[in-house]
Amino acid sequence: MATSPPAPLPAKRNIARQQRFWNRQAASWDHGAGNNPGLVKVVKTVLAEAAPGASDHAVDLGCGSGQVTLALARRSASVLAIDVSQKMIDLLLDNARRQQITNVEGRAIPIEQLDFAPGSIDLVVSNYALHHLRDADKAQVVRQVFSWLRPGGRFVLGDMMFGRGVEKRDREIIVSKLALLVRKGPGGWWRIAKNGGRYVFRTQERPVSMATWVAMFEEAGFEKVRAVPVVNEAAVVFGIHPD
Ligand SMILES: C[S@@+](CC[C@H](N)C(=O)[O-])C[C@H]1O[C@@H](n2cnc3c(N)ncnc32)[C@H](O)[C@@H]1O
Repeated sequence: MATSPPAPLPAKRNIARQQRFWNRQAASWDHGAGNNPGLVKVVKTVLAEAAPGASDHAVDLGCGSGQVTLALARRSASVLAIDVSQKMIDLLLDNARRQQITNVEGRAIPIEQLDFAPGSIDLVVSNYALHHLRDADKAQVVRQVFSWLRPGGRFVLGDMMFGRGVEKRDREIIVSKLALLVRKGPGGWWRIAKNGGRYVFRTQERPVSMATWVAMFEEAGFEKVRAVPVVNEAAVVFGIHPD
């Protein structure tokens, strides 16, 4: 089942691809994400692990239209919401206005180009976004998050987490995803072809396993690193910046 990974896209091309893709998908993600029970569970787990406090200044990487940001904003001092897609940021700010949430700022910028002062952030969260980054960029972002967090600051990452078939959990996830789509008939077969291509060639979806994320967190310097499987392929990884 394991395949060797193809050569990665250059960073700029990946960012441009994500921008185009998510500008097109923004409205349907905004409409559908809240009705997806699996995603709702992951969002809840991210928030539970993050345990935001009233004085926390938080950053949400790949915020979409606010699935984590808005709930986080109700429990923290402020949230800076980052997304590569301007359409997502516009939807997020509309959603915040409708819910009378005033402590959210949105910025359309790729995660890979962010920079903050060392030790300036209390909490960084990210949900279902970092699997879109190239593998080298994932590790770089984890190192950067470590440098931006104050001592005692937390990084909580929810995402699809499975590898390329080496571990038993990877194979179970891949097989259960395929079985689900096969049962859907021709529409599902089309999605196998489309998503399978994106996964095999790592053009859009580039998940890595829980163990890989845990190793990246530990190599960056995080402590008390733990991985919590949530549902199907989804898991949450937590780490704290040592004092
Ligand atoms: C699957 S959606 C998840 C949105 C939201 N976090 C949630 O939990 O529903 C992935 C989001 O990541 C954003 N994204 C993908 N690549 C990005 C990048 N390089 N920099 C910033 N955002 C990115 C997309 O624009 C999209 O809004």
